[in-house]
Amino acid sequence: MKNVLVVSYSQSGQLADIVSALTRPLREAGVSVQHEVLCPEPAFPFPWSFFGFFDVFPESVRLDPRPNCPLTLAPDAAFDLVILAWPVWFLSPAQPMTAFLQSDEGRRLLAGRPVVSVVACRNMWLTAFDTLKTLVAEAGGRLVDHVAFTDRASALATFITTPRWMLTGRRNGFFGLPPAGVDARQVAGAARFGEALAEALGRDEEQDGQPMLAGLCAVKVVPHLVLSERAGQRAFRFWSGLVRRCGRAGQWRRLPALVLFVLYLVTMIVTVVPLNLVVQRLAAPFLARRVAVLTRRYEQPSGASDARMAIYD
Ligand SMILES: Cc1cc2nc3c(=O)[nH]c(=O)nc-3n(C[C@H](O)[C@H](O)[C@H](O)COP(=O)(O)O)c2cc1C
Repeated sequence: MKNVLVVSYSQSGQLADIVSALTRPLREAGVSVQHEVLCPEPAFPFPWSFFGFFDVFPESVRLDPRPNCPLTLAPDAAFDLVILAWPVWFLSPAQPMTAFLQSDEGRRLLAGRPVVSVVACRNMWLTAFDTLKTLVAEAGGRLVDHVAFTDRASALATFITTPRWMLTGRRNGFFGLPPAGVDARQVAGAARFGEALAEALGRDEEQDGQPMLAGLCAVKVVPHLVLSERAGQRAFRFWSGLVRRCGRAGQWRRLPALVLFVLYLVTMIVTVVPLNLVVQRLAAPFLARRVAVLTRRYEQPSGASDARMAIYD
């Protein structure tokens, strides 16, 4: 019998629903699935206060997370496959996942193991995925698959619906805007990844180091976000350093710097982001090759192909 470890963190329950849809076929196939839910100490609130939300920005970007409670697993537990289910916080893995990957427990559990990454976020996961790959490699894991679930509503709509959800807990559609988050159809569709993993585990394919989830529309990279996200990450590195020089996490001393950051962010969103889209469109012939190379890179390892979708529909 194969043993799979799922390590996840979800505040609203969105990722928890995805994990449950994905793991059901594994359990039904007789695979032993152990689910470890990360528990930061103290817990991050949900919904967030305005200050609390932005106060996690510097430490998320600088990979200096709040620690987690000890895991409930036996210290010598060994698994055939590890599934990491994580949200994105400020273009970086959410702090609880970073803390897990940096911890001794995380390193011990991942060392030499094949790892499947499952992200669910608004729509910007590319640079966070770069970071996650590095953290997994540093922990000694082998990343074999990556699946991304995103909010399919327009960027304009989600600029409003995602912060509203995070700051009030309300996810419903309002004023003609769609509900926030990953839609129910996509969540239910996570089952195809569980079915494919169950079949692959049955053939010991997790040991090959090759992706097991190819051909299942595992990711969809939006080309115009590739360069914007990378520019955003560079700006976030600057601002996170500045805020951290003003005070530690939770200290009111850094409120003025955080307010400046929020003003910068809003200005960027209403001016530079739309301008950037126009510039990218005009410069498309010159940027096309670089964007294509980066798009292919972010689609790895599982890819955007739908070649096997019919089997699992
Ligand atoms: C502090 C914070 C920062 C976030 N930053 C991003 C981001 O940079 N990119 C993105 O696509 N989603 C971002 N999100 C949305 C999350 O990735 C995720 O979709 C949402 O928090 C729901 O996840 P849950 O399963 O933990 O409830 C952020 C959420 C929070 C709370």
